[in-house]
Amino acid sequence: MARVLDETVQAAVRRAAAVLFVSRHTVVLAGAGMSKESGIPTFRGEGGLWTTQGEPPLNQYDTFTADPRRWWQRRIEDARAGSAFGDSIEAAQPNAGHRALAELEDMGCLAHVITQNIDDLHRRAGQRSLTEIHGNRLWMRCVRCGTRWPREEFPVDEAALPPRCAAPGCTGIVKGDTVMFGEPIPPLALARCEAETAQADCFMTVGTSAVVYPAAAFPIEAARRGVPLIEVNPEETPLTPIADIVVRAPSGEALPVIVAAVRTLQAASHGEGSR
Ligand code: APR
Repeated sequence: MARVLDETVQAAVRRAAAVLFVSRHTVVLAGAGMSKESGIPTFRGEGGLWTTQGEPPLNQYDTFTADPRRWWQRRIEDARAGSAFGDSIEAAQPNAGHRALAELEDMGCLAHVITQNIDDLHRRAGQRSLTEIHGNRLWMRCVRCGTRWPREEFPVDEAALPPRCAAPGCTGIVKGDTVMFGEPIPPLALARCEAETAQADCFMTVGTSAVVYPAAAFPIEAARRGVPLIEVNPEETPLTPIADIVVRAPSGEALPVIVAAVRTLQAASHGEGSR
C-alpha cells in the first residue's frame, strides 16, 4: 500500500495536475530516480552507486576510441564476471511511475519523454513518444553512421574484435548503444530533444539530479521561456530554485496520484467539452 503523501505534497500534486491538464505539449526529463523503485540504484543522492563507490572516470569514450579492441575484451570479461548493478537492471520491471507516464501519454497529456535511463523500462511500460538520450543497454550502435541493432541481432565474434558495422558501405566500429562519458550524444536523439523542448508548454523533471548536460539544459531552456517547470524528486536539485511546482516525493508514489488527479479534471470537464 503506498504511503499516504503528506499535505504539502498533496497540494503540489493538485497544482501539478492542474498545469498538466491545461498544457498542450508537456515534456518530461526522466532520470535514474524513476527506476529506484524498480530496484535499480541511482548514481547520486542518498544511497547512490557513486555516492557510495565514488564517481567513474569521465574519459570512458577516450579510452574506447584509443583501443576499441581492448575495450571490447574488458566488456566481455566484465559481462562474464557480472555485477550487482547489472543484476539489478536485468531483474528490473517497470514500476508504477513508469506506468503512470505511459498512461499520461495515452490520456493526451504528455507529448514526449526524454529519459537519461538506459534500462528500457519506459518502453516496456508502454511509453511511445520517447528519446533515450543516453542510449539503451539492449542495443548496439555504429559510432560512424549511427546505425543501431538490438543486441540479439548483432552477435559479437570474440575472434574479430572490435565488431564492425554491417550497414552497406560502412566499416565503422560498433559499441554498446549506451552513451559513455565524453561521447557525443547521437545527433538524431539530440535534435529530437531540442525540438520537443522548443515546443514544450509544460516541463516536468522526474528523478534526476539535473547535473549532467546536455540533458539538464532542456528544463532550464524551457523555464527560461517562462514554461511552467514541475520537479518530482524526494531531494532538492539545482533546478529546485527555478521550479514552479515541487512534488517532494518518490516518483513511484507521486506520479500515479498526479495522473489520477489529471483524470479527475478530465472527467469533471467532460460535460463542458473535453480537452
Ligand atoms: N523517485 C524519484 N527520484 C528519486 C527517487 C525516487 N524514488 N530516489 C532518488 N531519487 C532522485 C535523487 O534525489 C536524485 O536527484 O533521483 C535522482 C538521481 O540522480 P542521479 O543518480 O544523478 O541520476 P540522473 O540524474 O539520471 O543522472 C544523469 O548521469 O551518471 C550519468 O549517464 C548517467 O544518465 C545518468 C546521468
